[in-house]
Amino acid sequence: MANNNPIGFFDSGVGGTSIWRESVALLPAESTIYLADSANAPYGEKSTSEIIQLSLKNTQKLIDFGCKMIVVPCNTATTNAISYLRENFDLPFIGIEPALKPAALSSKNKAIGILATKGTLSSALFAKTSSIYAGSINVIEVVGTGLVELIEAGKADSVQTRELLKLYLQPMLEANIDFLVLGCSHYPYLIEVLRSLLPSAVTIIDSGVAVARQIKAVLEKEGLFTATNSARHKLYSNANTAVLHKLTENIQVKKEVSFLDF
Ligand code: DGL
Repeated sequence: MANNNPIGFFDSGVGGTSIWRESVALLPAESTIYLADSANAPYGEKSTSEIIQLSLKNTQKLIDFGCKMIVVPCNTATTNAISYLRENFDLPFIGIEPALKPAALSSKNKAIGILATKGTLSSALFAKTSSIYAGSINVIEVVGTGLVELIEAGKADSVQTRELLKLYLQPMLEANIDFLVLGCSHYPYLIEVLRSLLPSAVTIIDSGVAVARQIKAVLEKEGLFTATNSARHKLYSNANTAVLHKLTENIQVKKEVSFLDF
């Protein structure tokens, strides 16, 4: 069995390209369509029902494009909406959740930090994962207020970003964390700044590669691998395409970045 249709991705904006790029690297024959819902970013401050409505809209658009599978490379949309999407659409969904489990299992200091959106940290799914894997660990949860807006504005490496991160890392450093979990797909674009602010003993965990492997495993299980070898990638933003373009310009594949009103 094979299926030559594209894999669909949607995120509240440009952040999910941190996962999209890993998927493209692991699965070079697969075509993709990426929707950056930047006009509605950030999702992290919205209610669960608003996040579900936006996720439905994006999913429907990807289905209209003929996607064979939907990847939700957005922790906020996954933790608030993925069970709803799975109940309402008959195709495979892959989500992303903060990687609490590997951090909690590996932490020697029994203290880990998690930087995520308010929507993710207040979700029922996050509470469940946290109680299963991190019950006996000191988890310092910090909402990264303002970070998504800065990344969406192309200011990942700015003085403002650095100042906010210093503030957000403070309680984590006081608690002597040895792992920092990036619980938002935008945050891998902050790794350079984070690295310069954190002691080398702190490991940063980002789940992009793990999600790409999961996409591959599900394509295999469902018999959905493409039989072609002519991958094309379409990335759409419903706001400014410049940042989407900038963040993906170093990915050497056949791709188009354009505006789409969705
Ligand atoms: N990139 C998203 C995430 O992984 C959402 C950020 C936002 O829009 O608040 O959580």
